[in-house]
Amino acid sequence: MAEVRLEHLRKTYGKVVAVDDVSLAIDDGQFLVLLGPSGCGKTTVLRAVAGLEELARGRIQIGARDVTRLAPGRRRIAMVFQSYAVFPHLRVYDNIVFGLRMARVPAAEQRRRADEAAELLQIRDLLDRYPAQLSGGQRQRVAVARAIVMRPDLLLMDEPLSNLDALLRLHMRTELKRIHRELRVTTIYVTHDQVEALSLGERIAVMQSGRIVQDDTPARVYDAPANRFVGSFIGSPPMNFLEGRLGARDGRAALSVSGQFLAVSVEAAAALAAAGDGAVLAGIRPEHITASLGPEPEALEAAAVAIEPLGAQTLLTAAVGAQVVKVIVPADFRAEPGQPVWLRVDGARVRFMDARTGGVIPLPGSR
Ligand SMILES: Nc1ncnc2c1ncn2[C@@H]1O[C@H](COP(=O)(O)OP(=O)(O)OP(=O)(O)O)[C@@H](O)[C@H]1O
Ligand SMILES: [Mg+2]
Repeated sequence: MAEVRLEHLRKTYGKVVAVDDVSLAIDDGQFLVLLGPSGCGKTTVLRAVAGLEELARGRIQIGARDVTRLAPGRRRIAMVFQSYAVFPHLRVYDNIVFGLRMARVPAAEQRRRADEAAELLQIRDLLDRYPAQLSGGQRQRVAVARAIVMRPDLLLMDEPLSNLDALLRLHMRTELKRIHRELRVTTIYVTHDQVEALSLGERIAVMQSGRIVQDDTPARVYDAPANRFVGSFIGSPPMNFLEGRLGARDGRAALSVSGQFLAVSVEAAAALAAAGDGAVLAGIRPEHITASLGPEPEALEAAAVAIEPLGAQTLLTAAVGAQVVKVIVPADFRAEPGQPVWLRVDGARVRFMDARTGGVIPLPGSR
């Protein structure tokens, strides 16, 4: 186990900049999730850390060692690939100890570590089988077992659950959390699934186009996205963005939104006025709006567009003028499309962003 520092990593393929100035510091034993859409450079970062990609720039430090120029085999890293990459011609046991054999670890020690890992991953009954005789989830466990028997300083996982069906994913997610709690191996876990990131990560680094745009706790990434991209990538349904212009109503600061007014605190108004020309986006999570069928003070009048029951709750889509808003409402909420609804926004939870750049406008007392 070790702390890990990635400094200014850059990777290019011809003219394509796959990874652009990525820096991360991961604490000893921490579980860091690298989250971002397809093609943003997640796998490239992981492969660079593993030593499988040559960097144009940057430095990688694991514990006290600068491994930037070390061969993959000397970095004390283990990697779990999306495709599992278990050997089909080897039994589970031989798959698990494969790396240990390569490293000429004594046979008794191989046995001991394999037993320990098999116990942890609950695959003790499968050690004599071939991979073809396993389910996807079991194969995935074998891949994880094979990585952890190496006692790596750093564990890298690239979308390890993406080949599993939804239920199995959920189960393995819980399992990975438990395994990490027991082993406390420093881990970088790559995914494009924001739910997986929120549930597994002790920290989340959000990537976009080769860069890290936010590096924070899951709660902060969700509640306080650094920009519009993060707000819309994380959360399902994503954060709403209402376009507005800073103004005043009855002598009080307010955001004019499609001809209506959204109250703004004095402090927020000052920050918004200082930030630019007054054109802002109000970023609002769907659960921070309450809908009612009658007029409410300070509510935005809207028209119901769609009502989608989701079991435990219902998703209301409504139009405020030409702007569409998604609202989480109680399961028993009823409205017909076209019917007027009133939306009250929890002002304290609004995240304001610059309408032009999408960057967050920090308010006093927050960041
Ligand atoms: N060998 C390569 N040659 C040229 N371009 C590459 C190569 N490998 C990756 N790229 C490009 O680098 C960028 C980052 O790719 P990468 O595989 O790291 O993305 P990713 O975030 O892992 O995406 P996904 O979620 O789809 O796996 C992409 O634009 C990709 O097309
Ligand atoms: Mg990838």
